[in-house]
Amino acid sequence: MPILALGTAGSKDDISRMRQAVYWAIEAGYRHIDTAELYRDEEEVGLGIADAIKKGLVTREELFVTTKLWNNHHARSAVIPALQESLKRLGLNYVDLYLVHSPIAVKDDGTAEDIDYSETWRGMEDAKKRGLAKSIGVSNFNSEQIARIIKECEVKPAVNQIEVNPTLSQEPLVAYCRSVEVAVMSYSPFGFMVSRRKHDSSPPRFDDPELTKIAQKYGKNTSQIVLRYLIDRGTTPIPKSTNKDRIIQNIDIFDFSLTDEEIATIKKFNKNTRVLDLIEWKDHAYYPFNKP
Ligand SMILES: NC(=O)c1ccc[n+]([C@@H]2O[C@H](COP(=O)([O-])OP(=O)(O)OC[C@H]3O[C@@H](n4cnc5c(N)ncnc54)[C@H](OP(=O)(O)O)[C@@H]3O)[C@@H](O)[C@H]2O)c1
Repeated sequence: MPILALGTAGSKDDISRMRQAVYWAIEAGYRHIDTAELYRDEEEVGLGIADAIKKGLVTREELFVTTKLWNNHHARSAVIPALQESLKRLGLNYVDLYLVHSPIAVKDDGTAEDIDYSETWRGMEDAKKRGLAKSIGVSNFNSEQIARIIKECEVKPAVNQIEVNPTLSQEPLVAYCRSVEVAVMSYSPFGFMVSRRKHDSSPPRFDDPELTKIAQKYGKNTSQIVLRYLIDRGTTPIPKSTNKDRIIQNIDIFDFSLTDEEIATIKKFNKNTRVLDLIEWKDHAYYPFNKP
C-alpha cells in the first residue's frame, strides 16, 4: 500500500473540484486515493483517475484506490451490492482496499441497527473472494473489535483507518495494530490545526514555535512536518486538499525523516481530542471510542 494517500472528504464545493484534485495528485506522484460512499464523490474521483490514465500518467495497476462501506449496508448480503455500486460510480472493476467505514450499523434513517460487525466482515470476505476488492480492512475500530475479527474470521483486516494527528496520537491503538500486523491509515492528519465544525484551541497551530523550529531545520513547512511525523510513526497519512500547491506540498516529504526526539516532541501535543467523535452514536452497542 502506498504510504501516503490523497483524502477526498469535503464540502459540496470540494466535490466539484475533486476530479481536478485527483488528477493533480496523480500528476504530483500520489498513487493512493481514499474515498467512500459517504463522501458522494466517487464519480468525481473515478473521472480524475480516468483522466490521468487517458493522459498516460499511470496505469490502473499502478494506482491504489480505497473506498468504504457505509453504515447502512452492514448486513452480509448488502456488502457486495454496495461495493458494486461504488465500483460503478468509480468506473472501476475492483478497488485495492475496501473498508468497513465504522463498526456501527445503522438503518437508512441513521438510527441504530442491531447487526454485529463480524457479520459485516463475512460480507467483506465474500467481496474479496469475488475479486471486487484486492484487500479488505476496517475503519474506526478499537483494539477489542479488531481482536474479535482476527479471532473469529477467515481473513484478517489489512488496515485500520483511524484518526491520528498531533492532538490525537493514538499510541495504544497504533501499537496494538502493529503487534497484530494491521496497517494504520491516519485520517484528519492535520487535526485541529485546520478549522473544523467542532472547535478545539489546543496547540499546535501551523505557526507553532516547536513545529516551526523542526520545519526550519529541514527546509519544510509545519504541515509537511506533521505528515512526516505520521509516516515516521509507521502510519499512512491521508491529507485532503483540492488546492494544487498544497497537494504538491503534502507529498514533498520523502527527502527527510524526523529523529526520535522530534517525534517525541510532537507526541507531547496529544490531548486525546477527536475531530470526529461519532457522538451521535455514543449509545450504540459497538460505539468504538470508549476504549483504545
Ligand atoms: N475513515 C473515516 O472515518 C474518515 C474520517 C475523516 C476523514 N477520512 C479521510 O481522511 C481524509 C483527511 O481527513 P480530513 O479531510 O478530515 O482532514 P485533513 O486532511 O487533516 O485536513 C483537510 C483540510 O486541510 C487543508 N489543508 C490541506 N493541506 C494543507 C496544507 N498543506 N496546509 C494547510 N492546510 C491544508 C485542506 O484545505 P484545502 O483543500 O483548501 O487545501 C482542508 O481544509 C479525508 O479527506 C478522508 O479521505 C476518513
